[in-house]
Amino acid sequence: MGPAKLILDGNEYELPVVVGSEGEVGIDITKLRAVTGAITLDPGYGNTGSCQSAITFINGEEGILQYRGYPIEELAARGRFVEICYLLIYGDMPSPQELDEFRHQLTYHSLIHEDMKKFFEGFPPKAHPMAVLLSMISSLSSYYPESDNGEGEDLNIIRLLAKAKTIAAFSYKKSIGQPYIYPRNDLSYPGDFLHMMFAVPAEEYVVPEVLEQTLNLLLILHADHEQNCSTSTVRMVGSSQANLFASISAGIGALWGPLHGGANQKVIQMLQMIQDDGADYRKYVKMAKDKNSDFRLMGFGHRVYKNFDPRAKILKAQSDKVLSQIGVTDPLLDIARDLEQVALEDDYFIDRKLYPNVDFYSGILYRAMGIPTNMFTVMFALGRLPGWIAQWKEMRENPQGRIYRPRQIYTGETQRSF
Ligand code: CMC
Repeated sequence: MGPAKLILDGNEYELPVVVGSEGEVGIDITKLRAVTGAITLDPGYGNTGSCQSAITFINGEEGILQYRGYPIEELAARGRFVEICYLLIYGDMPSPQELDEFRHQLTYHSLIHEDMKKFFEGFPPKAHPMAVLLSMISSLSSYYPESDNGEGEDLNIIRLLAKAKTIAAFSYKKSIGQPYIYPRNDLSYPGDFLHMMFAVPAEEYVVPEVLEQTLNLLLILHADHEQNCSTSTVRMVGSSQANLFASISAGIGALWGPLHGGANQKVIQMLQMIQDDGADYRKYVKMAKDKNSDFRLMGFGHRVYKNFDPRAKILKAQSDKVLSQIGVTDPLLDIARDLEQVALEDDYFIDRKLYPNVDFYSGILYRAMGIPTNMFTVMFALGRLPGWIAQWKEMRENPQGRIYRPRQIYTGETQRSF
């Protein structure tokens, strides 16, 4: 494709065009300021490509999501979370030997240093598990510092993936005052996490297969989503050559917000609020449309998807099946369905292309699995880890990588005397 032409103040400039492997077109403005003196202005970065990446492809208009070229529907139907971690981080599906070795490494490194248990004691009993997760992941950098030449980076990637599930489960045990359950090497990644969450020392606990499979699916669906708010944060922090743990804990902070990963907790709280208020969901749809109210339908809308979020489609299809297998009936699911129906038929939502996103159905499933509401965003973080790691690694290995440093248009006072 030929260059783009820009006319600014009567002068014409040519800007090179970059085309991605799926035909996505980007105007390369890296020389724009040097040549024209101007910058681009794009609050919220809705039109800004911050990098070229070979990890995840999304076509939001058509509702397509692919990891390393594989459609999410196929990965969700047949993949195991650990293979998807390998795929995202290293670029291809592992051979059986590579998978065995990777699995072995992930179990071998799943214990956390005993001293770290003391950190958990320091948090107040009602500490939000996201606060605990964020602090604990960042504190891993004090146990496993990165050498100046980046040596040990691969091992730290393994340590992070392996220990995060232990930390996440310990943060839950701490919040309910139960003893920590240590990781087990004979269980799968999701199975081990569920065992650490739900086992108690006094009893044998066998993780039900339906829970293990459902968590495997949920983790895969959350594993990466290209340059979203938390991933961009991970890249932003990592671009200053901050270590892996510092970069990922910054991403966890970004994920926590209710407009991003925190939405899954907010969806359930919203559904609960509607139920407690007599299940009058239409009232809340009306409120979400009212420009004088700051209420939004949590779990609806997406910056990139202007069609059904393919992850929500998969989860919606699974939720009935899983709920009946687990033997749970949930009145909140009925409200969710009603809300979705009304919103999909309402001009406000149709005109703005607001569809249910992944967070709309994930909360229903987590709830059915017995995972408490304040752990939902931790579950999202656990799933998103391989994506953050893959994006961090890709950025670090890019020879043209530069520190992220956007510009601004200054609108304050002009120079005045002090
Ligand atoms: N309920 C009611 N109105 C909405 C909603 C909603 N959930 N989302 C967007 N709108 C309206 C918004 O008011 C605006 O209307 P208008 O054009 O009249 O001003 C229009 O739709 C466009 O919204 P926007 O805020 O400019 O869109 P955005 O791309 O900046 O925000 C979003 C995307 C996901 C933050 C937003 O849709 C939202 O707040 N949704 C609820 C929170 C949520 O579910 N977040 C999870 C996102 S998916 C998983 C993840 O990334 O973590």
